[in-house]
Amino acid sequence: MKIVLLGYMASGKSTIGKKLAKKLYLNFIDLDEYISEKEKMSISEIFSTKGEIYFRKIEHEYLKEILNSDEKIVLSLGGGTPCYANNMDVILRSNAKSIYIKASINTLVERLLKEKSKRPLVANLENEKITEFVAKHLFERRFFYEQANYSVATDGRDVSEIVTELRILLH
Ligand code: S3P
Repeated sequence: MKIVLLGYMASGKSTIGKKLAKKLYLNFIDLDEYISEKEKMSISEIFSTKGEIYFRKIEHEYLKEILNSDEKIVLSLGGGTPCYANNMDVILRSNAKSIYIKASINTLVERLLKEKSKRPLVANLENEKITEFVAKHLFERRFFYEQANYSVATDGRDVSEIVTELRILLH
């Protein structure tokens, strides 16, 4: 069985995923890191040199590659993964348990402002425009995220508490 964590950029998918994997004695894969390693380029470099359409194509291929393996893992997706190339259907048809990691717009914006340069979708936005961007983007993407098998609210909670809730949920 695979556990797939999804949700908006900076929602905490990787932090929570790593800790959850450790508690469950499973390997952890971060899809963005997997793509970077395979392509030998950072995600920002892929966006700037090859473009988003190329990124979405390989993201889809690598997602299928990982889901088709027999290994039990915790997989953390990129924020856009469920929203492109029929990926949400691919995830739901696989035997993975999917979990939407929810965070409020304020929390997301606060975190994104701190690490803007690593996020190609917001890197070139003026700081004052980020809240408006995230609100609209999340509104569009929620449709996909909400198809996950479970969801967990994370605002104001520490990672251990969230991981405990996830372990109970997955039991
Ligand atoms: C993206 C989110 C990023 C990364 C890419 C595109 C998105 O992953 O896949 O920059 O479309 O939301 P994180 O959610 O891990 O930042």
